[in-house]
Amino acid sequence: MAVLVSDAEAIRTVRIDRPEKKNALTLAMYTTLADALEEADRSEDIRCAIIAGHESGFCAGNDLNDFVAMAQTGGLGAPILRFLHALARGMTPLVAAVAGNAVGVGTTMLLHCDHVVAGSDARFATPFVGLGLVPEAASSLLAPRLMGHARAFSLLVMGRPIGAEEAKTAGLVNTVVAPNAVEAEAMQAARDIAALPPQGVVVSRRLMRGTLDEIVARIDEEAAAFKTRLQSPEARAAFQAFMTRKK
Ligand code: COA
Repeated sequence: MAVLVSDAEAIRTVRIDRPEKKNALTLAMYTTLADALEEADRSEDIRCAIIAGHESGFCAGNDLNDFVAMAQTGGLGAPILRFLHALARGMTPLVAAVAGNAVGVGTTMLLHCDHVVAGSDARFATPFVGLGLVPEAASSLLAPRLMGHARAFSLLVMGRPIGAEEAKTAGLVNTVVAPNAVEAEAMQAARDIAALPPQGVVVSRRLMRGTLDEIVARIDEEAAAFKTRLQSPEARAAFQAFMTRKK
């Protein structure tokens, strides 16, 4: 399994575990991620979830081979949309532990997290437009709201990566620590959240997140545009270039 789920002290840890491919997400991995979040919502014992990768990298985004397959079969696969909807509608507070690269959905999923701990080596990049695609996961709505249009445009459209400190200034990241301290810091934040009165947390969080239907509608609107873009010659050429690149 390339996503590992473990529970301890009312905290669920969901670890993306495909380091040989820099934690790029396959459709099967999205299904496990969605299952893990939905189960956490149903559980009376889980009060917080941590999304983590490895010290060597958080997540290289969607598996580009899957994008090639999706370009033949249609749009964003159902498991991807299910995961994005679970992120948007989920009730469980989410802490992210990010070291190394967070690319594509590896960055946009953080816009749905409540507390993000980054290693000093973290690098956030959303190269959607350069790949002939468009931003997803409601990032076109949430990123400008969080960091302002100009910074969001630089990240989402111009594809300029940002480091940990810049992400902190932009409001995406709470705390920057040494890469080997990310997990411990994230666990401490999760413990702090789990120690609070649970219904107080859930209701406060729900109020702060705004209109969930608006977020879900944006995910679906982006997915429709994504479907068209996936089939574009620009996108196909970009995937091919990555797959056949010389190292
Ligand atoms: N999909 C499929 N495979 C991926 C991948 C992805 N998104 N990201 C990395 N990999 C694979 C590479 O093809 C390589 O496989 P190989 O060893 O079989 O050749 C392996 O993971 C290691 O990747 P590599 O590029 O050598 O690692 P790196 O440390 O030099 O760079 C990244 C790491 C994340 C910066 C780089 O892999 C990258 O840019 N990946 C693509 C990210 C992307 O565009 N995602 C989609 C966003 S919409």
